[in-house]
Amino acid sequence: MNEKSTQENTRTEQLIRGFIFACTKKTEAECFNRMLFGTDRVYGPIVIRIRRGDLLFLNNVNTNVLYGVFKAISDGGFKIEPNAWGGRYPYQVKVRILGQLIKLDNANEILNKFRIKRNTPLFGKKLVDFLDLFILKPTLLSNIEIKNNETIRLILEEKEKIKRMINERDIEDEIPLVETTTLWDFPRQGYGLTPKGDNKYPGVTPALVIYNMIWRYTDPGDLVVDPMAGSGTTLDVCREEKRRCICYDIAPTRPDVIQNDSRNIPLDDNSVDMIFVDSPYGDNIRYNDHPDCIGKISSESETFYDELEKVMKECYRILKPGKVLGWLIGDQWVKNKFTPVGFKVYQRLCKYFEPVDIIVVARRGQISHTNLWNNRARRFNFFLRGFKYLLIMRKPPVTREKVVRSRKINWTYYERNRNSVEK
Ligand SMILES: C[S@@+](CC[C@H](N)C(=O)[O-])C[C@H]1O[C@@H](n2cnc3c(N)ncnc32)[C@H](O)[C@@H]1O
Repeated sequence: MNEKSTQENTRTEQLIRGFIFACTKKTEAECFNRMLFGTDRVYGPIVIRIRRGDLLFLNNVNTNVLYGVFKAISDGGFKIEPNAWGGRYPYQVKVRILGQLIKLDNANEILNKFRIKRNTPLFGKKLVDFLDLFILKPTLLSNIEIKNNETIRLILEEKEKIKRMINERDIEDEIPLVETTTLWDFPRQGYGLTPKGDNKYPGVTPALVIYNMIWRYTDPGDLVVDPMAGSGTTLDVCREEKRRCICYDIAPTRPDVIQNDSRNIPLDDNSVDMIFVDSPYGDNIRYNDHPDCIGKISSESETFYDELEKVMKECYRILKPGKVLGWLIGDQWVKNKFTPVGFKVYQRLCKYFEPVDIIVVARRGQISHTNLWNNRARRFNFFLRGFKYLLIMRKPPVTREKVVRSRKINWTYYERNRNSVEK
């Protein structure tokens, strides 16, 4: 975690950021007619972070033009105008133009020069310099007395506000895009500028695991449940990503996590949009002293899986049909005995759910990954745990009749690149 969150709290003015939207020849007119910018789920995480008062720019990627300067007159949201662009771009923000519209050519060159990434908001000096482009080269305004020009005055006003906020310690908030492969390796437990859960909590979940689940399988406003929430990572991620969230734990560590045994969840049938569970992997961690903590049962005994199955049954009951459950679990190797906890949990889950996919999540920051243990692993010929499984399962949708169709796959065979290192 960094110091930014404390700085944010003490800042009197809200930090103004700049965001660049893209449009095409086809979609541009609707942006202006509705005074609305929109994008799809890929950039949803960026749009929902936009706040009223942020500055926006519009890049027509076909004509290579950059329009500005716009001001967000709503927070970024989901389906503000559900029918805009035929529903294709539901992540939206309402805008107004600061004075008159200014159009800059050679947008690509400008964006490259400023090293602008679509998932990183502009702020501070970079945003000030970016605004200068609109003050110095207002092609549509070339004949107007710059000094008395209302548009320039308004942009200068924004510049001054941003300058007042410049704090050398502010850092870029790179907003993660969702993972594309089945191997996830996150360097830190958290992400972004605010803490997610408590990275000192034993067995805390990497926040980006939950982030990826949320952005793939839910929409803003959906209800997410974590029945074994520990330090509340799911709650913090959901808050930042604008999902509703209910978190339980047998021994809560914070007031917004509700005390409850996950083998009996006090929610209605078919009422939840996504469930995330990072259960104990056995009795290797002492989470708390509660007698009903499943983390007191060894994963070498079937009782452990029987108790977890009770949690699975509850998850199945409360989840809406067709919706997804993510279960994070790791294997165990202790005193010369390997227990494939992941496979065993997967088998139990398959009694209720159908598999969507399995992700391998690299285990970082393991306290056992010391030189001593690395040497022991070599000397005594065993492996330290390097990954966990994220089992992504779906509650089958309600269908009137089961249609069994044979699947024919038309594979595309790619020529192997001579330089490819993959075997
Ligand atoms: C791996 S930790 C969860 C970590 C959490 N996702 C986080 O990021 O902090 C597993 C949690 O399961 C909880 N737990 C164990 N048995 C439980 C039960 N019967 N009902 C609810 N929670 C339980 C433990 O208290 C522990 O906090």
